[in-house]
Amino acid sequence: MNAESRTRLDRTPEWIALAEHREQQGGVGLRELFAADPERGAGYTLEVGDLHVDYSKHLVTDETLRLLRELAVATDVFGLRDAMYRGEKINTTEDRAVLHTALRAPRDAVIEVDGENVVPGVHAVLDRMAGFAERIRSGEWTGHTGRRIKNVVNIGIGGSDLGPAMAYEVLRSYTDRDLTVRFVSNVDGADLHEAVRDLDAAETLFIIASKTFTTIETITNATSARDWLLTELKAGSEAVAKHFVALSTNAEKVSDFGIDTANMFEFWDWVGGRYSYDSAIGLSLMIAIGPDRFREMLDGFHLVDEHFRTAPAESNVPLLLGLLGIWYGNFHDAQSHAVLPYSHYLSKFTAYLQQLDMESNGKYVGRDGVPVEWQTGPVVWGTPGTNGQHAYYQLIHQGTKLIPADFIGFAEPVAELSDTLKAQHDLLMANFFAQTQALAFGKTPDEVRAEGVAEELVPHKTFKGNHPTTTILAKELTPSVLGQLIALYEHKVFVQGAVWNIDSFDQWGVELGKVLAKRVEPALTEGADVPGLDESTKALVAKYRTLRGR
Ligand code: F6P
Repeated sequence: MNAESRTRLDRTPEWIALAEHREQQGGVGLRELFAADPERGAGYTLEVGDLHVDYSKHLVTDETLRLLRELAVATDVFGLRDAMYRGEKINTTEDRAVLHTALRAPRDAVIEVDGENVVPGVHAVLDRMAGFAERIRSGEWTGHTGRRIKNVVNIGIGGSDLGPAMAYEVLRSYTDRDLTVRFVSNVDGADLHEAVRDLDAAETLFIIASKTFTTIETITNATSARDWLLTELKAGSEAVAKHFVALSTNAEKVSDFGIDTANMFEFWDWVGGRYSYDSAIGLSLMIAIGPDRFREMLDGFHLVDEHFRTAPAESNVPLLLGLLGIWYGNFHDAQSHAVLPYSHYLSKFTAYLQQLDMESNGKYVGRDGVPVEWQTGPVVWGTPGTNGQHAYYQLIHQGTKLIPADFIGFAEPVAELSDTLKAQHDLLMANFFAQTQALAFGKTPDEVRAEGVAEELVPHKTFKGNHPTTTILAKELTPSVLGQLIALYEHKVFVQGAVWNIDSFDQWGVELGKVLAKRVEPALTEGADVPGLDESTKALVAKYRTLRGR
């Protein structure tokens, strides 16, 4: 596809063919699609690693999928994929390679950036992390007063928080239960206060996680944490070395902060923040679950990386999931995408995916600098499913919006549950299966009447159905399965960004707010007359100062 047609994706024959197909399909329903193909339930499924992916409950036919794959070919999704895996600088606005796949490559792999194989460096850091994690876990590493470390507090934000915080919850049953692990991200002092108020400083390790080591929230919290530690220990700055380590790409800033670079675990500018929790950013997780489990997780990532790199288009799961999202977002006017895990341990999973997806694909300017004329990334949202059922599922079932959703569930409950609690698992999963059935097939007015419902209530009790869902089912939630799931979503996001022709790896959209916050702060603290402050904000700042008695 040439540059002209890239900027006018919506005028390409492949796009137009999809629009026409959508038109012809009209209001085709899932009941009809299943009636026309009795094999659909078993046939519209794919396997990747331990994940069974069922896409039968989507508003698609073989023809839809063929046309979507043609769009992927026309937009050269696999060409960009190969360039990413080769270490080319596909993050063009930052002139960086995009190589989170190298973080989970085996030791003998060769992946070059600017002529240098990055894999040995990745494994050297992983080995250092493993050594450090073992010293904390065994009690060999002690704090300033000689006491064993029992508490680990990760201070970071965005990609330096969401990944390890999410994965720690997901893999809770694999963690060392004698360790307390907490995550502080918010510059609201309440976050740090709650994290440390019941901790003994002598037994606490702070991990300062920041790719740039300039993020104001993180540096502010890290400075307050250091003050707290030194006050509690009644010690001088010599205590910092035993209680603070840094995860960063910026050794100079780490050193400026007062952390010895011997206590820094590095990563590289070719790792995007939201793609980084399998790098040094995962240190808190590694301490919690141990290096072996961490490596199992990396192997899970790698398995899906290899699948995405090598599987043909027809059986390539990230490609499929990406294209289904395009089908709804661009041809059905869907604005959002729900991710609904049926596992309590996945309670932070969707919050993690929000950054992965929305910071990657929330863009209106194409790779060529020209505003795109088609919808890009969806609003991603959701919470664990059974809780959602009693909150917002009403809108998914009977609201006026089309909300495609992913349902993620596991056949086995987590091993450490008691027999009584394990017995609840079938009820959990009965909800899982029932919901996708209800969403897909609904309930017709005749079915409602057949239940003897009064005529005036029939419209209220009718479910139109045709709400598309993907079901992702695995035997159990292991570290490897978590890695597989995250890699699946990373590559799904990649596919969509490639088709939409946007740079999924920059995040200029978060810069303006950061710059303005720095500019506004003196107006709050000193009442300074900040140039460029608009009238509305000026009035709000004045009100704030009055309320604070300033
Ligand atoms: O929110 C913007 C962002 O740059 C994210 O992309 C990143 O994950 C986060 O801030 C934290 O950045 P850092 O790791 O450099 O502190």
